[in-house]
Amino acid sequence: MWTPELERQQERQRFDQMRMPHVAAQERGGRAATPRTIHVTQPYLPPLEEFIPYLEKIWDNKTLTNGGPFHQMLEAALRDYLGVDHVSLFSNGTLGLITALQSLRITGEVITTPYSFVATAHSLLWHGNKPVFVDVEPETLNMDPAKIEAAITPQTTAILPVHCYGNPCDVTAIQKIADNYNLRVIYDACHAFGVRDAGGSVLRHGDLAVLSFHATKVFNTFEGGAIISPDAKSKQRIDHLKNFGFVDEVTVVAPGINGKMGEVNAAFGMLQLKHLEKALERRAQIDAAYRMGLSDIRGIRCLAQTAEGTRNHAYFPVLVGPEFPISRDALYELLKSRGIHGRRYFYPLISDFPMYRGLPSAQRSNLPVASEASAQVLCLPIYPALGNFDVQRVIDVIRTACD
Ligand SMILES: Cc1ncc(COP(=O)(O)O)c(C=O)c1O
Repeated sequence: MWTPELERQQERQRFDQMRMPHVAAQERGGRAATPRTIHVTQPYLPPLEEFIPYLEKIWDNKTLTNGGPFHQMLEAALRDYLGVDHVSLFSNGTLGLITALQSLRITGEVITTPYSFVATAHSLLWHGNKPVFVDVEPETLNMDPAKIEAAITPQTTAILPVHCYGNPCDVTAIQKIADNYNLRVIYDACHAFGVRDAGGSVLRHGDLAVLSFHATKVFNTFEGGAIISPDAKSKQRIDHLKNFGFVDEVTVVAPGINGKMGEVNAAFGMLQLKHLEKALERRAQIDAAYRMGLSDIRGIRCLAQTAEGTRNHAYFPVLVGPEFPISRDALYELLKSRGIHGRRYFYPLISDFPMYRGLPSAQRSNLPVASEASAQVLCLPIYPALGNFDVQRVIDVIRTACD
């Protein structure tokens, strides 16, 4: 006879058959012992011995940075993998964002979202731009295109939206507004590695898109990032800017910065790419397990998945609504007391930090959807090495709040 519990058991068995071997091994060790601490994420690391030959190559050729062989290889490999035309590697996503603004000579005000990691708005301050916050859409928590026009002033020169959690923005609506008002669009695509929509890579949208390869990201190079540009000329300018503005040994064309990715990071990226499909597969399984396990819990809302395209399952945010018996913060603490460390991404809103909260656009009344999401959101652990047993542990603890 069919029961929800039976279905859950069968689904669990299916996951057991599909999961990564090291996850299974970990679980065999972990089940009997005290439940281990689970963090919201854990960087994916390939077996160390696989990395040694890469290091030997670097030791042999003694090129450590400045566009060495691994740097060139990784740019080419990412072009292929992501399906984009031009990739400029960076030492991190934040310097990528600042350089993207510099390369397009963005001045004055830039419209952006308060619902993101603080580096999005910080890049604007570092580049001398004034952030103007607009609210987000309730479904995706991405910038709401319907709110952009009212925020445009004669000083506005650009829009900096974020593909939050790797879910694509409404790129068509945003581009239409940008075209009407002659604004540039830079996507903070730091969460959107490998994400595709119906027409191809989501990174092809806008004037530029910026990725982060930070340790917590789906694809990591310890620290790292990249700018995706649409043509060779843009890439060339970006490549000059990330190397202090040097064009050749004796010519400096702009006050560029040191944003170069080193060879060890680039080599690690090459190795990571080999493992990526498996890691993404595992993330998709965990996402599916959470969606199924949480589907009947009143007051817990998972963000909808958009119909077309490829997701990267970078995060698993849930919104803890008023129908749930305890508050978001109480659930966060309950999970923590059981060794499960979720994260309230994105709380506080960027607009609530001291360097932004004085801006007129930072007022809560201007940002009702973002404010509510920020008070309700909790990102649950998701990473390739997270086993089914631990995913179930997370679901079970959330359920205990309903008992
Ligand atoms: C949305 C967003 N923008 C920018 C950044 C900054 O990237 P990085 O840490 O590589 O400098 C991050 C992540 O760290 C991010 O999540």
